[in-house]
Order: sequence, then C-alpha cells, then structure tokens
Amino acid sequence: MPGGVNSPVRAFKSIDSSPVFFKRGKGAYLWDEDNNKYIDFVASWGPMILGHADPDIEAALKEVVESGTSFGAPTRLENEMAAEVIKCVPSIEMVRMVNSGTEAVMSALRLARAYTSQRNPKQTKIIKFKGCYHGHADSLLVQAGSGVATLGLPDSPGVTANATQDTILADYNNPDAVTEIFEKYPGEISGVILEPVIGNAGCIPPKPGYLEFLREITSAHDALLIFDEVMTGFRVALGGAQEKFGVMPDITTLGKVIGGGLPVGAYGGRKEIMQMVAPAGPMYQAGTLSGNPLAMTAGLTCLKKIQAPGFYDELERKANYLINGMKQAIDAPLQTTVCGGMFGFAFSSEPIHNFADSSNMDIERFKQFYLSMLEQGVYFAPSAYEAGFVSAQHSDEDLDQVIAASKNS
Ligand SMILES: Cc1ncc(COP(=O)(O)O)c(C=O)c1O
Repeated sequence: MPGGVNSPVRAFKSIDSSPVFFKRGKGAYLWDEDNNKYIDFVASWGPMILGHADPDIEAALKEVVESGTSFGAPTRLENEMAAEVIKCVPSIEMVRMVNSGTEAVMSALRLARAYTSQRNPKQTKIIKFKGCYHGHADSLLVQAGSGVATLGLPDSPGVTANATQDTILADYNNPDAVTEIFEKYPGEISGVILEPVIGNAGCIPPKPGYLEFLREITSAHDALLIFDEVMTGFRVALGGAQEKFGVMPDITTLGKVIGGGLPVGAYGGRKEIMQMVAPAGPMYQAGTLSGNPLAMTAGLTCLKKIQAPGFYDELERKANYLINGMKQAIDAPLQTTVCGGMFGFAFSSEPIHNFADSSNMDIERFKQFYLSMLEQGVYFAPSAYEAGFVSAQHSDEDLDQVIAASKNS
C-alpha cells in the first residue's frame, strides 16, 4: 500500500513517527497489536460517537447480515434512514444516501451548479475557504495562493487547473474576503461551501454573526449556501452546526456519524433543489452500494441512540472538562476550543480564527506532546491540524487520566 496506509494522515508523517496498528476497540478504548491500551479521541475521525463496538449496533448488524448484505434495490431501511435524517437536520427536506463524505460533497457541488446554472449558465463558481477540507474531489483539492481571494491552484498533481478554475478561495471568518469575491464575479457564484465549524485545521468555530453573514450574502446574490457537515453533523448537536448556530443552509452534506462506523455519506436540502437529482430531475448521480442495508442499519441505530435526552449536553460537558483540565495542566500557551462533542487545542499564544492564524502554532511542541501522550496511552489525532472527539463512553476517570498525563507532556 502506498505509504503503508489507505488514507494519508494515518501514516503519522506529520509528527515524524510511525503509526500504531490497532486490532480492537471497545467503548472509549483501543488496543494495539502489542496489547497496549489507549484512550481514544480520534473516534475513527469522528464516526464513533457512541464509542467502539457499541452493543446495540453490533446486535442490529448481526441480525441484518443474515438477510443478505446488498440488493441494489429499494429497501425499508433506506426509507427509515431518510425519515430520520429529515427529522434531525433542520434544513433537510429530501436526502440522497451515498458511501462517503467525499462522494456527498462532490454530488452536492454538482447539484448546486445544476440548480443555479439552469437560471444563469454563468453561475458556476464555488467559493471555498482556506483550511476547510471537503474530501478529495478534484475541484475542492486546492490550496490558497497569496491575497484575500485567489483563483484556486491544484493542491495535488493530477488535478488540472481546469478542474479548479471555478473554485475561488477565501479566508474563513473574514466577511470582507467573501464580499470582495461576490463583487469581483457578479452573477457567477453558484455557491459558498464551508465547514461551519472548521475541523480540518484544528477546531475553529465561526465568529458570532459570521454564518448569518454568509446566509445573507448568498441569498442576496441568488447563490446557494452549502454546509459541509460531514464532521459537524450529529456531532456538535443532533441537527449539526445549523441547529447549534441557527443558520439554515440550502444544501447539507453528511458523513461520519451518520454511518455509525460503516461507510455512509449523504446530501440533502430544500425539496425544490433536491428535485433536480436523478431520477426526479436531470442531475445524474448514482451508486451501486448506496443505501446498503448494513450501512443503513449501523447508521440508523446510531442516530436513534444519539437522540437520548441530554446526549449532547453531556458530550459537551466532557469535552469542556477535558480541555479545561488540559489547559490548566499544560505549561505552555494553549488555545482551546470546544463545540459539542468536538474539541481543539493548539500550542499558540494567539487565538486561531482561520487557517492563516494556525501557522502560528508551535508544531515542534505539538510533536513532543503527542508522542509523550501516546506513550502514556492517549490516542489523539496524529496532526496539529485535526479536531479531537469525545464519545458517550469516555468517563470522567478517563478524562482525569488524560489531564494528569498532559501535565508533564
Ligand atoms: C468536513 C469534511 N468533509 C468531507 C470529508 C470527506 O469525507 P470522507 O473521508 O468520508 O470521504 C471529511 C473527512 O474528513 C470532512 O472532514
């Protein structure tokens, strides 16, 4: 396998180390091939909000697996899942299931462009923010050049300039950057896509009023607001960041928690927009394994459990407990953020509001901290640019152990 892994960040390259190989997970813990035990805050990069090997998901999967694992035809389970998503996520009136977050975002962008370009064929450009990751589809794999708003340049060989020419980059949490782009390309912006809380450059919440600003400016220009809630969906609140901050996007993408640990993604939104998707409408998108019975079963079981009263209050309490404890214990300037079951900590003396601010982070200090914590049985994401996740299974004793370990790390 290239680099020994099936997804790059797993390789521990950003901390100049080599990865741990896991063989088992239960609740808040993981065990490696040498039987070392870790308290896990990676949660498979977000999905495992109920902890590993949840007994209800396990039981549901065992039952369903006996009836066949894929039909490529409509099932009751898909309909139950669609109903659950529509119930939980405030702006979603209609939904399509796919197999990953990348697929969800790719499809959502095609949908946005299909929708706006039918009115105005020139309305095809997408504004994306520096530091937001939306999966590895060509048009979004771009990094910022210099300046406030720069035409995207490919971030990976193999992505052509043509593929990214309609992607325009902006600084997150900076309203002027977006206003300038709308002024520069009148009638050409199809949509604005963002992680409403950035989880791929640490954990960066929106400044007060910022999401409201994006809602207003997109509506004023007949452009669509797309929340990529692959990470924040069912994670910062049951209804995602849109519920937590009370701002409704036109299209939402989902992944991670919605699959309960199996490969699932989804995109949804206003009925009028979603009716564009084939076979209801002309925008083509399909999938052999989309709505797969096992994936729907794990996802549905997970979605039902996270609706327990107080689930998110408790998750956020734990994240705050952990992060506040670490801030007190660690003898270095630390910027910390918590949003529902998601948290971030950055070795920096300056607050971090966007990707440019995160260049102030002391990466060497992070590496030292990371390896020391790993040695003490704490598994954080192996990069200074990733969010952490608490699960329903972390106990206060687990968190106390982590805080104590962080003291000398
Ligand atoms: C916000 C966001 N969007 C999209 C993706 C891509 O999802 P996947 O890895 O399931 O393709 C990720 C993955 O980390 C993500 O965090």
